[in-house]
Amino acid sequence: MKHLLKLGDLSREEILSILNLADQLKYERKNGICNEYLKGKKLGMIFQKSSTRTRVSFEVGMYELGGYALFLSNRDLQIGRGEPVEDTARVLSRYLDGIMIRTFEQKEVEDLAKYGTIPVINGLTDYCHPCQVLADLMTIRERKGSFKGLKMTFVGDGNNMANSLMVGAIKTGMKFAIACPKGYEPDAELIKWAKANGEFEMTADVAAAAKDADVLYTDVWASMGQEEEKAKREKAFAGFQINASIMKAANKDAMILHCLPAHRGEEITADVFEAHADEIFDEAENRLHAQKAVMCKVMR
Ligand code: CP
Ligand code: NVA
Repeated sequence: MKHLLKLGDLSREEILSILNLADQLKYERKNGICNEYLKGKKLGMIFQKSSTRTRVSFEVGMYELGGYALFLSNRDLQIGRGEPVEDTARVLSRYLDGIMIRTFEQKEVEDLAKYGTIPVINGLTDYCHPCQVLADLMTIRERKGSFKGLKMTFVGDGNNMANSLMVGAIKTGMKFAIACPKGYEPDAELIKWAKANGEFEMTADVAAAAKDADVLYTDVWASMGQEEEKAKREKAFAGFQINASIMKAANKDAMILHCLPAHRGEEITADVFEAHADEIFDEAENRLHAQKAVMCKVMR
């Protein structure tokens, strides 16, 4: 595995191998075992959007693996003043052992990988969020034991999270259902792929999508970069919420995941969020372990 640009590039076996290593790294950390698998390696972290979890978990993860992480904001880099990505890629390849990038266009991530000579890890684009979904899959397997026979339901925007979740769910053998308003569906190519490769259902009826779900997932109605659409989206997404009544349609022991940050009272009610906080914050913790595994896979 050379890069992590999107989940669709990975085979089921590669995904499971990352999850196995993530479990091992979590065990080692909890038991005070320190293995500096990336001793002396340097990771550049380019952020064109805000971040709490991704930034801190990559930086701490790199430190724990014996390496060093540099935070590179687009406000400070020449990339923010128009230096082409193909030049940035070639320059950074001379200094670093890997790049993590959070940006808008997926093409920018693909171009970094194309023009550079070092591994590139996608830390979120408008198209997908593969690191988040690896942590989500890790959390599901940790709590449910396996993926076999599980149904995952996503409620809300067919955005970067939905795009990666449907790929992750189908590749690991889960059923995937999405409830989204008309006009806010996931990527059309991915829908085609999901239908051809697994059990995929799309509806505007939240209760129907949530029926018999084992894992319910939601995300903000307006993602980073969509702030100006906030009012329009509040109207379009009214009712696309995980709440106590929707939980009645799901399986009794259904878990809830949320990539965070969460907007209580919009995509999820405060009571349901708090009732499932252990799952959601385990999920946030697992970002650290899953990304350490990804870095080991591509940078070792
Ligand atoms: N879930 C997630 O990626 O969080 P941050 O935006 O805080 O990194
Ligand atoms: N869909 C959200 C995910 C944040 C982790 C966004 O892109 O802002």
